[in-house]
Amino acid sequence: ASAIDLELFGTVYRTDKMTNIGSSIISKLSKKLHLQKNHPLEKVKSKIVDHFHGNYRSRHGGCIFASIDNLNPIVSVDQNFDGLLVPKDHVSRSKIDNYYINTDYVLRSHTTAHERDLIKSGWNAFLNTGDCYRRDEIDRTHYPVFHQTEGVRIFEQHEIFQDSLDDSLRLIEKNPTKRTFEKQELITLDATKFLEFNLKYTLSKLVEHLFGQDVEMRWVDAYFPFTHPSWELEVKFNDEWIEMLGCGILEQKILQSSGAPDKVGWAFGLGLERFAMRLYDIPDIRLFWSEDERFLGQFRSSNDQKFKPFSKYPPSYKDISFWANSDFSANDLFEIVRGVSGDVIEEMTLLDQFTHPKTQKQSFCYRITYRAMDRTLFDSEVNMLQEEIRNQVQKQLKVELR
Ligand code: PHE
Repeated sequence: ASAIDLELFGTVYRTDKMTNIGSSIISKLSKKLHLQKNHPLEKVKSKIVDHFHGNYRSRHGGCIFASIDNLNPIVSVDQNFDGLLVPKDHVSRSKIDNYYINTDYVLRSHTTAHERDLIKSGWNAFLNTGDCYRRDEIDRTHYPVFHQTEGVRIFEQHEIFQDSLDDSLRLIEKNPTKRTFEKQELITLDATKFLEFNLKYTLSKLVEHLFGQDVEMRWVDAYFPFTHPSWELEVKFNDEWIEMLGCGILEQKILQSSGAPDKVGWAFGLGLERFAMRLYDIPDIRLFWSEDERFLGQFRSSNDQKFKPFSKYPPSYKDISFWANSDFSANDLFEIVRGVSGDVIEEMTLLDQFTHPKTQKQSFCYRITYRAMDRTLFDSEVNMLQEEIRNQVQKQLKVELR
């Protein structure tokens, strides 16, 4: 049997049973919205980088944070998961949620995938921005490609406990303690508290810089395999708390495996779309992919005007119903729908689901909202797309259309 080869950025990958990337995702790999001058994602990225460059300088006046934004989104499973201590059976690895090139390579699902390499290459502080990929539902805030900026800062003994005469102030425990909710085995409580304070201070300053002094924030305990303790930062917009980023104190095992066993550090990862949607009032995540001048043109000026939506075009609704087996995954359905329709579907919602008492088969009914952002869709076009979606769903998923 001849396996099909995939050539991406000049490298040939052999496909296998894990491969689940198709042409619609491959076509996004070269877009690099965060590098397009004056694109709103690029503007937010630059604001973040400028804030760190302006506020964190060494004694000699140089920038402390390096800024990186052009690393290849194709990473090894080790870079994206194993090396970051993601458990072998953790749900975040599943084929349902990720785009695998084959068993060994995956499109990064977060910029954390590069953390160990960047620490190994010697950086003590950096910001790393890139396009990330996750299979996801279809609505105004989810899109299979999104952009993250990762921040990392690591410290040496003398930076935290300035040549303290008192030998009791150390970063690393002489004897590992028990892990508790407030500390890891190897990092002292003193160092942990310093890192927590420094991390939260750094991120609050960033959020105030972006949203103004009066912005309301709160810290919520969280879990990530690569940090402990971990937090999410929530920001209040229109009386609603919105999760804006994840962060925490780097697992010491990661620093050990990155050639920095005597240092300690923190990391955060934030989604640029979330920040840009709030900063500019952008109502639909698909707009970031629009090449319409009525969108891009509004971001050319150097000030931060809110986005003025162009008029909304009328939606049209179509339902699709089918019987499915127990291995059905909704993300597979969404992927097929996105592949056929591109960006003209605004939302797909589950209307109805039940299990047949005798056959145990499951019945699903989804409502598809068709609405382009830049034009009115003709009925004939919607009907054709719906017909093609039905064909492809029947062909690619083992379902029985109703
Ligand atoms: N990688 C995490 C995510 O994508 C965010 C994160 C980065 C959390 C760094 C902690 C530290 O959700």
